[in-house]
Amino acid sequence: MQIDHRHSTAFDDQKPGTSGLRKKVRVFQRPHYLENFVSAIFAAIGRPGTGVQGMRLVVGGDGRFHNDQAVQTIVKMAVAAGIAELIVGRDGILSTPAASCVIRKYGTDGGIVLSASHNPAGPDADFGIKFNVPNGGPAPEAVTERIYAQTRRVDGYAIAAIDDIDISRAGTQTLGSTAIRVIDPVDDYLELMRSLFDFDAIRALFANGFRLRFDALSAVTGPYALRILEGELGAPAGTVVNGTPLPDFGGHHPDPNPVHAHELFELMFGPDAPDMGAASDGDGDRNIVLGRACYVTPSDSLAVLAANARLAPGYSDGLSGVARSMPTSAAVDRVAEALGIECHETPTGWKFFGSLLDAGRATICGEESAGTGSNHVREKDGLWAVLLWLNIVAARKESIADILRAHWRRYGRNYYSRHDYEAIDSDVADRVIDALRADLARLPGRQVDGLRVSEALEFSYVDPVDGSRSDGQGLIVRFDDGARVVLRRSGTGTEGATLRLYIERYEPADGRHDLDPQAALAELIDAAEAITGIRRLSGRDTPDVIT
Ligand code: G1P
Ligand code: ZN
Repeated sequence: MQIDHRHSTAFDDQKPGTSGLRKKVRVFQRPHYLENFVSAIFAAIGRPGTGVQGMRLVVGGDGRFHNDQAVQTIVKMAVAAGIAELIVGRDGILSTPAASCVIRKYGTDGGIVLSASHNPAGPDADFGIKFNVPNGGPAPEAVTERIYAQTRRVDGYAIAAIDDIDISRAGTQTLGSTAIRVIDPVDDYLELMRSLFDFDAIRALFANGFRLRFDALSAVTGPYALRILEGELGAPAGTVVNGTPLPDFGGHHPDPNPVHAHELFELMFGPDAPDMGAASDGDGDRNIVLGRACYVTPSDSLAVLAANARLAPGYSDGLSGVARSMPTSAAVDRVAEALGIECHETPTGWKFFGSLLDAGRATICGEESAGTGSNHVREKDGLWAVLLWLNIVAARKESIADILRAHWRRYGRNYYSRHDYEAIDSDVADRVIDALRADLARLPGRQVDGLRVSEALEFSYVDPVDGSRSDGQGLIVRFDDGARVVLRRSGTGTEGATLRLYIERYEPADGRHDLDPQAALAELIDAAEAITGIRRLSGRDTPDVIT
């Protein structure tokens, strides 16, 4: 077989962010662009002398535009590099959690996941690539730094001069010294879900008339949701909508939030609402859950799942601990306290949960950005969360709204909201952040709109397992009554900068739990503007997205 050695010069914009390298499709279509990054991954994970020769990897993606082509490129580079086995999802499909599952199950040296998660897809939209390490989780910072360092050094790459291979059927083909094994993208994941949840109880729930609407937003979860919910669990046909992954995700913005999943929200708050609504994102790792006229915020969902996990067979022994990202509400902290288990507060990004999960110090983790998951894989997992909710509903025989209200009556309610200011000029975003950072020392003790600041700091994290340190992970301003405002710059946006403002206050168990969060947080929202000046400095009247 002929191997071409192509010369290319390094690109200067290949620094992976919190979720890998994410750029416009047009950027990935530039000659050598993807190849250079893949070559950098190989160089970063390879062994001295032999590189990735003899290693085993997984590849798959969320099916968005450019997925097919990228998979073929990676196949050819894997063959040229002498990878021993490349496990490929059929048609190039693997959801992010399924990729994590497959990496772990087959004990590979890692995997390449092609996705720009919840960003829109299509020729003018976004594409992305990330490397997951052998535990199935996103590459930790040390690995992404190594990959980045290699991107600066790349001056060429090797690629097999072969035609595109057929990945539309499961089976193994051998090219040179590489076995290309095409697998069904759902099988292994389904088997894992079956081992965690009481499928019989969920089947009985559907058989008794429980109605679910799962919106796959024309992204990767379609095949998983159809097979598991309608196929295995007997949910009626039509339960899963937008179930076929399309290259442009059907024009949907596959971010399950009240803005982008508005059809689902309208249904769930309308007269014909089924018992439960759910949606996932482009690559299947995020989720939202709604009951009839009831939206469960991701922070509350994490807390409810942690409090009720024992009802599912996979968690019947209880949880070893829980973890949440710093900006996620503290609702789960109260559950951990009641259960007497560890509770960890990590920086934003799933990768920070990896070491806690590996060390058995957390069983369930979550982020306010609609990410929840457990130690079953090393990624957040949208469908897993939906199945755990179904298992809990089946066991408790109560509605989602009732389960949530009962939770607040026991633990109190953390009113919570996130305000996003998107596509802000990067300099303006820097100015907002720098100004608040410069103010931190002066804020404690100050009265802002009737609220007294008790503490102001920049969040740093030291991983309790491996001791690694991450600084500059968001600015926190706390108030006397335990309320807080958090400001951070998004690491995943592809246009200008996105600023995220997180606002939270606690209402005790015997307080009022029926307020609209924006109303319940109104004072704090004003205080946040007074402190951060986002609107003033950016010239924006309102956030682009409120969740
Ligand atoms: C966002 C979310 C974060 C999540 C990440 C990847 O990152 O806020 O919780 O882990 O996407 O899905 P951000 O854009 O805020 O950096
Ligand atoms: Zn995602």
